[in-house]
Formats: sequence, C-alpha cells, structure tokens
Amino acid sequence: MPSVMYRSVFHIFGTIACASVISVPLTGTSGPGSSTLTRRALPIAQMAEDQFFWFGNYSVGSGESFELLVDTGSSDIFINPGKYKPGLTSKNRNRNFTASFSTAKLDGTGFITVEGSWFQDSVSLYGSNFTVPNQDIGICRPGTEGIPRDGLIGFAGIESSFGGLPGWFENLCTEKAVPECRYGLAFNTNKTGVQYLGGVENSVFKGDLVTTPLEVQWVTWGDVAVNGEIIARDTRMLTDMGTAVIWGPIDTVQEMYKRAGIEWEIIPPTNTFPGKIIQGSYPCASPPTFGFGFPSTQNITDAAQNATSGVSRKGSIFNVVPEALIASESDGKCKSILKGVTNLDIWIIGQPFYQGRYIDHNFETRLMGWADLE
Ligand SMILES: *[C@@H]1O[C@H](CO)[C@@H](O)[C@H](O)[C@H]1NC(C)=O
Ligand SMILES: *[C@@H]1O[C@H](CO)[C@@H](O)[C@H](O)[C@H]1NC(C)=O
Ligand SMILES: *[C@@H]1O[C@H](CO)[C@@H](O)[C@H](O)[C@H]1NC(C)=O
Ligand SMILES: *[C@@H]1O[C@H](CO)[C@@H](O)[C@H](O)[C@H]1NC(C)=O
Ligand SMILES: *[C@@H]1O[C@H](CO)[C@@H](O)[C@H](O)[C@H]1NC(C)=O
Ligand SMILES: *[C@@H]1O[C@H](CO)[C@@H](O)[C@H](O)[C@H]1NC(C)=O
Repeated sequence: MPSVMYRSVFHIFGTIACASVISVPLTGTSGPGSSTLTRRALPIAQMAEDQFFWFGNYSVGSGESFELLVDTGSSDIFINPGKYKPGLTSKNRNRNFTASFSTAKLDGTGFITVEGSWFQDSVSLYGSNFTVPNQDIGICRPGTEGIPRDGLIGFAGIESSFGGLPGWFENLCTEKAVPECRYGLAFNTNKTGVQYLGGVENSVFKGDLVTTPLEVQWVTWGDVAVNGEIIARDTRMLTDMGTAVIWGPIDTVQEMYKRAGIEWEIIPPTNTFPGKIIQGSYPCASPPTFGFGFPSTQNITDAAQNATSGVSRKGSIFNVVPEALIASESDGKCKSILKGVTNLDIWIIGQPFYQGRYIDHNFETRLMGWADLE
C-alpha cells in the first residue's frame, strides 16, 4: 500500500491531508545489533498469503507473534487498535500521527486512514534475534480503521515514512546487524513465501539475478510485454508487495487486452474511487501472457555505456504466472488482476507479479534483482 503522500502515486485521489507528518527525525533510535550470520545460511522468515496480502511474524513489545502485512510501498510499523502490549523499554513519544494509504482493498481501490501515537519499543523478527530495541511504532487508537490481521510493517525507507522515522530494516542496517543492507522476498504460488535478510540466497532461484537501477527505494523502470513481445518501454514501476493487484495506465492496459484478444469493461468513477477503470476478463482455461521486461530498454542501453553500474546488460521478460493473474473466477471466466486506471503515471506492480519469483532489494547499491524461483 503506497502512502497517499508517497511521491504522488495515484494522484487521481488528489491529496489527502496528512496532518501530523513531521519531517524531523527523532533521535536515539537503536542500540547495538546482536546477530551473527554466515553468508550461506541467511536468516529467513516464513510468510503467508491471506486474500492477496502477505504477512510475516514479528514480536513487538511484549507481544510474541504479530502477523504484520509486509509492505514495500510504505515505511512504518503500525499496530492495530487494542493489540499492543508494551515491553519493558516501551516509551510513549507523545506525538500523534495520521497515516493514509491507497490501494488498501483487495480489489486495489480504497483507502485506509489510521491514527494514533508514536511509541518506541523493541521489534524482532519472530523466532530470531534480529531485534531493534527502540523501534518507532505507530500504535493505532481504538476506533480507527483496521489493517488486516495485526498491523503493517513497511520496508520502503525513511523518505516515505509518515513520521520521518527510520524503518525496522533500516535500523538493522544502521546497527550493522546484517552483513549487507539487502532484503529479499520469495513468494511461492501456494500462499507461502520467505523473507531473506541481509543478503541474497542464490540457491533458491534459477540463473543469475537480473538487476535494475532504483529511482528511489522500490521504484525502478521496466518494459511491458504481451506474449513475450514488448509493447511499451521505459515505464516507471513501483514494486509494491502490499498492493493486491497490478495497476497500469489505462491506455497501455487496453492495448495489452487488445493484443491478448481478451474482453474488457470500463468501470466509471465512483464517489469512493475517482478513477476510470479498465477490467479485463478471459476464459480461465486460456489465460493471457502478461509480463514485464527488466531492465528497461533505456537502462540496458545505459548499462552498456557504464561498466560499473551493476545494471544487467541483457533483458529478460518475466510473465505473471497464470495462477496469480486470477482476481476472481465464475463460470469458467476469470477477471484479470492486472488492470488499468486513468491518470496513473507509474505502474503499481503488486503482489501477483512476485509469485514464483525471487525479488532482491539492495539498499546499498540501489539495485533491484529479479529471478524465477527454482
Ligand atoms: C543469534 O542467532 C544466531 C543464529 O541462531 C546465533 O548463532 C547467535 O549466537 C545469536 N546471537 C545472539 C547474540 O544471541
Ligand atoms: C505466525 O506464527 C504463528 C505461531 O507460530 C503461526 O501459527 C502462523 O502461521 C504464523 N504466521 C505467519 C504469517 O507466518
Ligand atoms: C493526541 O490525540 C489525542 C486524541 O485525539 C489527544 O487527546 C492528545 O492531546 C493528542 N496528543 C498530542 C501530543 O497532540
Ligand atoms: C509451497 O511451495 C514451496 C515451493 O514449491 C514448497 O517448498 C512448499 O513445501 C509448499 N508448501 C506447502 C504448504 O504446500
Ligand atoms: C533508467 O531509465 C530511466 C528512464 O528511462 C532513466 O531516467 C534512468 O536514469 C536510467 N537509469 C540508469 C542507471 O540507467
Ligand atoms: C555508472 O554507474 C555508477 C553506479 O551507479 C554511477 O555512480 C556512475 O555515475 C555511472 N557513470 C556514468 C558515466 O554514468
């Protein structure tokens, strides 16, 4: 879920006031790290999908195992009303927040606004000793809307934090609790997945990672493909694990549907969603082949001129796996989870695209890596 302020993603929604965004970071965030790692055995943490959102287990304060929605479109930790149990080091920061997110619903529309106060407390990856002792956490006040399950953890970095505060993984990096400031996700197609912390796990994917440059954290460029053929080049893409669907600009998506020979309908704007939507559907037995090419055409050309950029010089097309393309099914007809909306200047590549795939995000080299799982 991108935060609504997040670099004007989804500007069709206009600006939603984010009254208590304060850009001055708090000080004294975290103490020394306590993790010992070897390169080959990266610490991993299981994830599970529930209705198009992916959850991991984290311990927060004296709460042992919170199931938090893993989000790469935002940066903070928010805990749902009534769930927080303070730990011994809990501190109330006496500062309130209001945070709004777009693409909050299962169909990719909708907002969530949460309100509450900032606390600091320890946050660990459940079952590990990856602990940030004084992590900033937004504790939502009773009566505010709920995030699915227990709350949310964002991995997008301080630039998109509602409080101007460093995120949990950033703090682990600052503490040098991880050998590399690198975070990987592998989503299987059976609702299970794995998070990899502090490096890349080469043994779980096929071939080499295809690498692309970052504009900002989790925003890169790619090409758009139908049946393995590129139909649009050099588009900006927000890779957002916390969005249930894949959103593209309406014209490009219409062209994709046309090339794939599938039907579509146009859904007019409503009071709650001001964008015009194009929604495709297809016989479930013959799904279209939609994909994205990485790096983008321009970035491949650039990489050829720069021996040190780390960006791949050869592109690959990664197709959305047929299982993940289904938004819903009825009478042998499937609705496409990849759809279009007006006034979108960036693709929002949500969770369906990552199924069957390993995604690496390297905060230090500012590269993302892409590969198909074994
Ligand atoms: C952290 O966990 C690792 C792996 O389980 C272990 O080898 C190490 O001793 C632990 N470190 C501390 C400080 O507890
Ligand atoms: C979180 O941990 C609990 C208890 O071990 C487990 O039942 C649950 O499946 C885990 N959830 C996720 C998302 O891994
Ligand atoms: C935070 O919000 C609550 C409830 O609206 C209010 O009572 C409190 O005074 C606010 N605190 C600060 C520091 O603004
Ligand atoms: C899900 O798929 C992965 C990868 O194929 C496999 O290792 C795992 O055992 C499967 N889990 C379940 C619960 O089916
Ligand atoms: C990648 O491509 C985008 C848009 O085409 C461009 O703005 C950016 O500078 C390129 N970056 C690199 C490292 O090639
Ligand atoms: C080559 O890539 C590196 C790493 O991204 C960058 O720092 C450097 O400015 C690039 N050089 C040129 C000539 O673009």
